[in-house]
Amino acid sequence: MANPEPLNVSDLQRQFPALDQQVHGHRLVYLDSAATTQKPQSVLEAVDSVYRKDCANVHRGVHTLSERATARYEEVRKIATRFLGTEDSQEIVFTRGVTESMNLLANTLSGLVGGFKEGDEVLITELEHHANIVPWQLLSQSTGIRVKVLPCDDACELVLDDLDKLVTEKTRIVSVGHVSNAIGTMNDIDRIFSAARGVGAITILDAAQSAPHMDISPKKIDCDFLTFSGHKTYGPTGAGILWGKRELLDQMPPWQGGGDMIRTVSFEESTYAETPWKFEAGTPDIAAVIGLGAALEFLDSTGRPSVEAHEAELLRMIESHLMEMEGVQIVGKPATRACCVSFTLDGIHPHDAATIMDQNGVAIRAGHHCAMPLMKRLGLPATIRASVGVHNDQSDVEALIQSIQAVREIFA
Ligand code: ALA
Repeated sequence: MANPEPLNVSDLQRQFPALDQQVHGHRLVYLDSAATTQKPQSVLEAVDSVYRKDCANVHRGVHTLSERATARYEEVRKIATRFLGTEDSQEIVFTRGVTESMNLLANTLSGLVGGFKEGDEVLITELEHHANIVPWQLLSQSTGIRVKVLPCDDACELVLDDLDKLVTEKTRIVSVGHVSNAIGTMNDIDRIFSAARGVGAITILDAAQSAPHMDISPKKIDCDFLTFSGHKTYGPTGAGILWGKRELLDQMPPWQGGGDMIRTVSFEESTYAETPWKFEAGTPDIAAVIGLGAALEFLDSTGRPSVEAHEAELLRMIESHLMEMEGVQIVGKPATRACCVSFTLDGIHPHDAATIMDQNGVAIRAGHHCAMPLMKRLGLPATIRASVGVHNDQSDVEALIQSIQAVREIFA
């Protein structure tokens, strides 16, 4: 395949107003996109214009503003369909993000498989974010279903040789993160989902940390459900996407009940709207959904192969600088990496390091990254994580390395 066009990073940087500021007297170097991305001007304008001129509820009014808001909101289903390279916009369910999508699935999949029984199993992995752990534990408490975990090795690669042991006739659901938010490991989804399909299990992809960085078309990644969060994909907080195969979504019951998800309501019984509206009870975050549409168009116009290549190069640079530094331990050595690099500094708590780095204008995340079981596996309370986005360039990598040197000098 031909090399993708290089990103015009300085043009992209100009599109993010928040980057044009100083923090503690330094240029802001934002390396925390895995926690949330900054928002480009087009997203800010989309949200602003909703509140300035199209502020009305959706699906409920015949007045002009409501019709405009509804049209803009529903247009985002088509944008998301193009973004995912699928065809049916009714396969797009708007949620608040991955956490809500996973809870929706955990609460409705029993309708799809004819109920869960004690002994049934859900397989997740040791690399998961809490959003792909806790909903299944809650399902386990209410149904007796067992949560099983595919382990990772010291490099933070999943131990795929264990798949044969862990994926059995009892496995009903296999739910896996595409890219680890804590380490950056890119998982061999094809192999995991092919094992899952072999036993007829439902496959779910948590694409929170891959959607902003690469093509995640379900046509390439053969899965039943896929979810990502808007706020990590250059969109506003409060809106995300759950994509599912139409025939599966159609069979699933609603999760939350209320306005907008119904066809008829009486005190005796209610009937429900069709897919996907039956999953969208109550007034949604209309402006956030419309902003998410602008974000997906922004990412598509940027060119995801170019984004992927640019960010892979930045991560390679960060890794190679860190490898040369004394007293720096990179956490995890995955064969394929996206989104971030995690590391620790000998004798220095990650939170102390993050505070000093912030004094140098460098925003990174320190903590357990909502992956406490993984931290336990690694024997670490926390790591320092530098995560990249389309706006980052070599000067950001240099600022990161200088800020780490500053931390080490203070603690020397
Ligand atoms: N899940 C987000 C992160 O990885 C908040 O930082």
